[in-house]
Amino acid sequence: MPVKHSQVSMAMPAVHVVTHPLVQHKLTLMRQKDRSTSSFRRLLHEVAMLMAYEVTREMPTQMIDIETPLAAMKSPVIDGKKTVFVAILRAGTGLLDGMLEVVPGARVGHVGLYRDPQTLGAVEYYFKMPSELEERDAIVLDPMLATGNSAVAAVDRLKKAGPRSIRFVCLLAAPEGIRHFHDHHPDVPVYTAAVDRELNDHGYIVPGLGDAGDRIFGTK
Ligand code: URA
Repeated sequence: MPVKHSQVSMAMPAVHVVTHPLVQHKLTLMRQKDRSTSSFRRLLHEVAMLMAYEVTREMPTQMIDIETPLAAMKSPVIDGKKTVFVAILRAGTGLLDGMLEVVPGARVGHVGLYRDPQTLGAVEYYFKMPSELEERDAIVLDPMLATGNSAVAAVDRLKKAGPRSIRFVCLLAAPEGIRHFHDHHPDVPVYTAAVDRELNDHGYIVPGLGDAGDRIFGTK
């Protein structure tokens, strides 16, 4: 009997694996090597919408007065503007539209990083966030948590900007990437559709789905 939503019980803080059958089904289709770019992109959009439900589960609500056709009542609403989706360029943008479809009032930030060929450290080339970040909850988006280097660097930088809270959403994670990420950011929960077996020598997740950016944008 599949668990609907679980917390992986490895020795690591908050990793939420979204095991909903719809997410798992769509992920299986995305892994297939012959899937077209348009189909891959549509599936990622759908998975992002479904994962948005999980990552926003603790979103604050406030009661407002409304009238139904039959009676007055108090009913909960969210303040979507308090959410900021932070896409790590470039593959993170593939998760953005699906998330925004579910939380249309959310703000959007972008982080661009590249790897310095000499030091292998992450170098920031773009960072743009909405104002009053300290009043907003950040949800960082990157489909693949592989080595974890860019996720760590993006969250390092984001923490300096000071949002009210941070969560990290990916489609696939490698155990090595989760470990590395949580060594640096044990306070940031990770939401993923699956934790795969391992990283290969080139830093790709195995079995994985290949290069997410290339598959989203058809750049291979
Ligand atoms: N980035 C990808 O796009 N795919 C991987 O498997 C690892 C990192």
